[in-house]
Amino acid sequence: DASDIEKGTYPHYMLKEIDEQPLAIRNIITKYKDENDNIKLDEDIREAMKDTDRIYIIACGTSYNAGLVGKQLIENIAEVPVEVHIASEFLYNMPLVSKNPLFIFISQSGETADSRGVLVNVKKKGFKSLTITNVPGSTLSREADYTLHTHAGPEIAVASTKAYTAQMAVLTLLAVDTAQAKGMKLDFNPIQELGIVATAMESMIDQKEMIEGVARNFLSVTRNAFFIGRGVDYYVCLEGALKLKEISYIQAEGFAGGELKHGTIALIEKGTPVIALATQKHVNGSIRSNVQEVVARGASPCIISLAGLEEEGDTIVLDEVHEHLTPLASVVPLQLLAYYAALHRECDVDKPRNLAKSVTVE
Ligand code: G6P
Repeated sequence: DASDIEKGTYPHYMLKEIDEQPLAIRNIITKYKDENDNIKLDEDIREAMKDTDRIYIIACGTSYNAGLVGKQLIENIAEVPVEVHIASEFLYNMPLVSKNPLFIFISQSGETADSRGVLVNVKKKGFKSLTITNVPGSTLSREADYTLHTHAGPEIAVASTKAYTAQMAVLTLLAVDTAQAKGMKLDFNPIQELGIVATAMESMIDQKEMIEGVARNFLSVTRNAFFIGRGVDYYVCLEGALKLKEISYIQAEGFAGGELKHGTIALIEKGTPVIALATQKHVNGSIRSNVQEVVARGASPCIISLAGLEEEGDTIVLDEVHEHLTPLASVVPLQLLAYYAALHRECDVDKPRNLAKSVTVE
C-alpha cells in the first residue's frame, strides 16, 4: 500500500523506483545464487524447463514487453523455442499448442484478470505453469504450479519500471539455469554480467540532469514521438513508447527499423522526435541508415547507443554490457525521458489518467 512506503526525498514514486533498479538487480543475484556462486533455481522449475518442447509466455502491458525480451534470452541462451502472447488475445484466439507446453505468466502484481483467465484455461487442459511475479502470495502465484519471485520490492507508481528490469533479470537466470540443466556449455557468467548491468544502470541514473535536458528540448511540446530499433532494441522501443504514452500522453509508437519504409515513414514531419536505439552490433549499420532516412525527412533524432558502437553526435551513450542484457540498460534512459517529459508537461506522473496499477477485470 502506497501509504506504507515512503517516497523519502523523491518527488515521485516513479523516480524512486527508477533509481532502485541497480539495487533490485543486485538483490536478485543474491537471492538466486548458491554458496558457490552458481545460479540455482528450484529443482521442479528446472525439470519443467528441461522437459518442455515449447514455452508460451503470457502477459499484459509492460510485463508483455519483458516477455518479448525473455523469448530472446531463453531462445539464445537455453535454445528452447518460445512464443509470447498478449493474455487477452490468447483467451479467444488460442494458437495450436505443442505436445508438452510450459506456460510462463509474467505479472508484476500477480492479479491481472486477463492473465488469470488464461491460467484457468491452461490448468483445465492439464498444462504446467510457472508465474514470474513481484508479489509471491498473489493469485497467479498461488494458482500456478511454480513461482519465481522478482524481488524488486513494492512498486507503487502506475508506470512499471523496476518490475520490468527485474523480470528480465529473472528471465536471464531462468535461461541460464535451463541451459545448465541441459548440459550446455555457457560462455556467459550471469552473476558477473548482471553486476555490470547494475553499474551501467547507475551511471545512466547519474546522468539524470542531462536526460532531463534532452526531454525538455525534445519532448516538452511535441504531439507525437517514435521509437525505432532492430532486434531486441525493437522490443525495448515498445516499452519506451508505452512509458511515454502512459505518463506524458504523447502519442508514441515503437517500430522495427526495417518496417519504417513500409508505411510509418509517412508520419515523419519536420521536427518529429525519433528516438533510435543502437545497442546491437549486427544491425548497427542498418539502424543508422534508418536514422538518416528520417532525418532526411525532417525528424529530430535522439540516438541512444552502446559504448563501442557509438558515433559522433549520439545523444546518450550507455556503458558497455553483455549483448544478451542490453535491454536492462537501454530502458533506463527511456524511463527517464518519459518521466521528465511528463514532468515538463505537468502530468500526474505516479497516477496517470484512465490507468490502474493492476487491472483485475477482463
Ligand atoms: C496495468 C498497468 C501496467 C502493467 C499491466 C500488467 O495495465 O498499468 O503498468 O504493465 O497492468 O500488470 P501486471 O501486474 O500483470 O504486470
